[in-house]
Amino acid sequence: MRRTHYNGEIRKSNVGEEVELVGWVSNTRKLGAIQFIDLRDNTGIIQLAIDDSSKVPDVRNEYVISVKGKIRAKEVPNPKLATGEVEVEVKELKVINKAETTPFIIADKTDALEDTRLNYRYLDIRRPVILDNLRKRAAIVKCCHEYFDERRFLEVETPYMNLSSPEGAKEYLVPSRVHPGCFYALDQSPQIFKQLLMIGGVERYYQIARCFRDEDLRSDRQPEFTQIDVEMSFMDQDQILEIGEGLYKKIWKDVLGIDIKTPFRRIDYWDAMDIYGSDKPDTRFDMKIVDLLDILEGTEFHGFDGAKFIKGIVIPSYASSLSRKRMDELQLEAKKFNLKGYMSLKMGENGLEGSFLKFLNEEKIQSLIERTNIKSGDALIFASSSSRRDIDLGLGALRTMFAKELNLIKPGTYDFLWVVNFPMFTRVDEEGKEYVAEHHPFTRPRDEDLKYLDSDPEKVLAYAYDIVINGYEAGGGTLRIYDHDTQAKIFKILGLSDEDVRRKFGWFIDAFKYGCPPHGGFGLGLDRLAMIICGTDNIRDVEAFPKNLQAVDPMSKAPNKVSQEQLDILHIQIKED
Ligand code: AMO
Repeated sequence: MRRTHYNGEIRKSNVGEEVELVGWVSNTRKLGAIQFIDLRDNTGIIQLAIDDSSKVPDVRNEYVISVKGKIRAKEVPNPKLATGEVEVEVKELKVINKAETTPFIIADKTDALEDTRLNYRYLDIRRPVILDNLRKRAAIVKCCHEYFDERRFLEVETPYMNLSSPEGAKEYLVPSRVHPGCFYALDQSPQIFKQLLMIGGVERYYQIARCFRDEDLRSDRQPEFTQIDVEMSFMDQDQILEIGEGLYKKIWKDVLGIDIKTPFRRIDYWDAMDIYGSDKPDTRFDMKIVDLLDILEGTEFHGFDGAKFIKGIVIPSYASSLSRKRMDELQLEAKKFNLKGYMSLKMGENGLEGSFLKFLNEEKIQSLIERTNIKSGDALIFASSSSRRDIDLGLGALRTMFAKELNLIKPGTYDFLWVVNFPMFTRVDEEGKEYVAEHHPFTRPRDEDLKYLDSDPEKVLAYAYDIVINGYEAGGGTLRIYDHDTQAKIFKILGLSDEDVRRKFGWFIDAFKYGCPPHGGFGLGLDRLAMIICGTDNIRDVEAFPKNLQAVDPMSKAPNKVSQEQLDILHIQIKED
């Protein structure tokens, strides 16, 4: 057997050629005396024709076969197939290997449960749609290598097995056999190492890095995932963002053939939160959040008593769908975000309608119409909260929900933006702790905000940025602190004593004493990027062997219990409940 052609690439220009082909049987059918077989390889399908069907051995779906024959033009072309104008007149057919009946049909369209598909992932990968996703993912990685190589970046591998951090709640631990009772932690990202590489003088680093995080899974989260990890020295924030934008531009061009415009829009964190109710806003649709505090505070309505924030959103053409029952369902959503006084109004032919109007005078009603720009047939939903984040996130969740319900997003559109100027700290007011770092403690505060570090840390914004594509947090990064004084101040605000700092980060911050260059970078989620490029909202569709939502591999059933012998070697005793 010597393959002469790839099945999916055969065209009319090949008519008359003698061929030897291999592949999997995708379908068989008989028409009179002629036996037809669809033969699939990783490039596509070609139709085989055996003019005397009595000579065909027993051939069923997913059998691996080889054939010898000649390409001929088809009398009636099949426009659905790329190879639809030709077929192979088979002279010899050999069965290389048989196959049992597969648990689901190998075709793009399937109604098999996802766990069944993952259980037989090797068969699932035979489905052209999954294979194509893997191909696109590989094309993205190829773009990265070309892009960074052309720009003098050095690809460096960093260790996966590292020191565990005292607060490593998300860490996967690996026990050491030679050091009884000691564990490595699998790297959550190469953050510390890439900074050390900058101190090491690498200046421009990148890595397609595997990261491990033991966190609750979602449709865009896996316990092990891949980052396009980048770090640069002597670059300011704009230069770093430009490097990121250039990479996306190349990927969209090379993989999808689409020209995207750079630079991407930049939006401040608090604007993203206030206007779209999310730090990863999808701006492919409008439905902006409107501030209504000045109009709606101080009425007789007690639901807004003591509210610091009253905000709302207009849902286009939703007045007739906003039943009492629907409003009750939405109330439940609002409760998740602690929203209070959850109310609605509708715009009818002759103005606003709804029981809430009894709390408003004519002037306020007019202001409400003008502020929200509500049109006939629209609904307005509004609520109050004492927390800016809660009200923003609550209305943001509604915004996303309604966009889906009302089909406001045009498929095949891409929306890129950088969310910039994240706060440096989040207030927590827990015992012994007033603030936590929004990103990580090595994030550099903006120069113009350094003056607030002592007086009002909450006001301090950071050189921190996230790239958001179609409402997904596709990546993020920061400039890092490189001077000792600022770092010491940040640790102090985070409530870390000198002793804490030494214990937690001593080995790392020692490196900063020896001439640390200004540096910064980002980590882009390769899996999420592949999801967007492949047009799927399921991260498992773009990984060859993903875990399910319970972090289990349905195929091998990992993770599993291990033998007592293995545990003994590792000096581990399992506590039975
Ligand atoms: P961060 O933690 O924001 O930053 O991660 C960067 C990007 O990685 C992707 N990502 C994930 N993808 C799939 N499954 C997950 N469980 C998962 N977690 C994160 C997201 C995210 O935006 N070291 C910093 C980057 C830096 O500052 O340079 C970091 O890891 O797309």
